[in-house]
Amino acid sequence: MAVLDLLYYPDEKLYQVSAQVTEFNSELKQLVDDMFETMYADEGIGLAAPQIGVFKRIVVIDTVGEKKKEDQLVLINPEIISSEGKTGINEGCLSVPGLRGHVDRFEKITVRAQNVTGEFFEKSADDLLAICMQHEIDHLNGKLFIDYLSPLKRNLYRKKAKLLAKERERLKKQ
Ligand code: NI
Repeated sequence: MAVLDLLYYPDEKLYQVSAQVTEFNSELKQLVDDMFETMYADEGIGLAAPQIGVFKRIVVIDTVGEKKKEDQLVLINPEIISSEGKTGINEGCLSVPGLRGHVDRFEKITVRAQNVTGEFFEKSADDLLAICMQHEIDHLNGKLFIDYLSPLKRNLYRKKAKLLAKERERLKKQ
C-alpha cells in the first residue's frame, strides 16, 4: 500500500468532473487500498479519487478511523437516489487544509453505488456519514466545500493556501 500525493486547492484539476468506472480489476482494488492509506495518513474520514489526480468516480470513507474493514465504505459510481431533511456542520477537506466552513447538506440520503467487484448496492446514511458521502460525491462532480462559502472567505483562504503550498515545497526539499 502507498500514500499518494494529494492535489490542493486552488489546483484547477480539482474542478474536473470524474468519469465512470467501467473496469473492476485488481488495479482498482489496489487504488482503493492506496486511497484508504492516503486518507488515514492525513487523518481524513473520506477521500475521492480526483483528490489524488485520478479522475474516476471512486470514494472511500471511514468515519470511525480505526482502520477496520467493517467500517470502510467504498462507493464506486455513486448516485444519490433519495434525500431528506437539512443538516450541516463545519466541514474540512484534505485538499483544502487549514480551513473549515459550514455547508448545508441533506440530513439523510440513500446512495446507489458499486463495490470494488462491480456489484450494485444501496446505502442509507444520516448525520456525519451522510454529510461525508455528499462531500465526497461533490468531489466527483468537480465541486469543493469551499465553493459553498462566501467569496470573502474563499479569497482570504486563497492567500493562506499559497503560504501552505510554499511550506509543503519546503518540507519536500528537506
Ligand atoms: Ni474533500
